[in-house]
Amino acid sequence: MALETRKSLKQGRQRVTLRRDERAPFVAPIERLRMSNEAIATLESVSMSQRLAVDVRNVSLTFETADGKVDALSNVSLQVADGEFVSFIGPSGCGKTTMLRLIADLQQPTSGALLVNGMSAEQARLERRYGYVFQAPALFPWRTIEKNLKLPLEIMGFSDNEQRERATRYLALVNLTGFERKYPWQLSGGMQQRVSIARALSFDPALLLMDEPFGALDEIVRDHLNEQLLQLWDKTGKTVLFVTHSIPEAVFLSTKIVVMSPRPGRIVDIIDCNFRRDRTLEIRETPEFLKIAQRVRVGLRAGHSYDE
Ligand SMILES: Nc1ncnc2c1ncn2[C@@H]1O[C@H](COP(=O)(O)OP(=O)(O)OP(=O)(O)O)[C@@H](O)[C@H]1O
Ligand SMILES: [Mg+2]
Repeated sequence: MALETRKSLKQGRQRVTLRRDERAPFVAPIERLRMSNEAIATLESVSMSQRLAVDVRNVSLTFETADGKVDALSNVSLQVADGEFVSFIGPSGCGKTTMLRLIADLQQPTSGALLVNGMSAEQARLERRYGYVFQAPALFPWRTIEKNLKLPLEIMGFSDNEQRERATRYLALVNLTGFERKYPWQLSGGMQQRVSIARALSFDPALLLMDEPFGALDEIVRDHLNEQLLQLWDKTGKTVLFVTHSIPEAVFLSTKIVVMSPRPGRIVDIIDCNFRRDRTLEIRETPEFLKIAQRVRVGLRAGHSYDE
């Protein structure tokens, strides 16, 4: 059945008709947030005064499954200021994706509270304050690359010209000019992930949630995209929350690295990285870089011993 999008961010723009399954990643139907009004009011005043992009307070999340309860996150608190680049690193299953999904309001905490851009996560989702690059590219096989990229722009009611212009610009940014009319299955996994990155950037959200976006790419492309992402972050002042399994990638990209323990995910260390914003890949050879990488390694090891 075709569904019409209910809300256009820009008044007077065209409406778009989409199949239900096309809308899911952008307009997921979600349960109500379980935060009290009082908790929201308190957090709002704190977050606004400090210009926090993300404010997570004592959040825990337990999944109820057929095999019993799964404690995914335990008492996590984290404040991310506007414009930071924060990486999450930790063993598989420690709750990194869950953390991003909470911030994106695709999941609700069992306890605790969180705010995104000074508002509830639900409000931030409805106002499309973030772009989300999923762990898998999540492209629609029946849409061409260009049409995949344009999907959020269509939903938001951008004009045809603007959609075309942005598709061209963001496909060029990820080195995919010339692939506009191909279908996702005609591209390699890495190329598909680059389309997904371009799609998340296309509507210029202040907050980017990126779940291992470069995990499937070869070293050279990954280095290139790391540098491009850094430049983009530097130029635009976006806030980026970035999940990775790579210590060098986390150290190279981040202003802050959040090291997590195995399930139930806890934060074992938060490490500040104060490299120049216009850094290049050469910093990976410097003693400062290696020192931070070592501290991340120690944090990961310490986290592992908790699990025993
Ligand atoms: N919808 C769900 N229902 C039940 N359990 C879930 C659900 N989503 C995640 N989990 C569990 O919560 C834990 C954390 O999962 P999550 O996907 O956040 O891990 P991760 O740190 O992103 O791992 P990876 O590095 O492998 O991507 C895992 O044990 C996972 O099995
Ligand atoms: Mg994950």
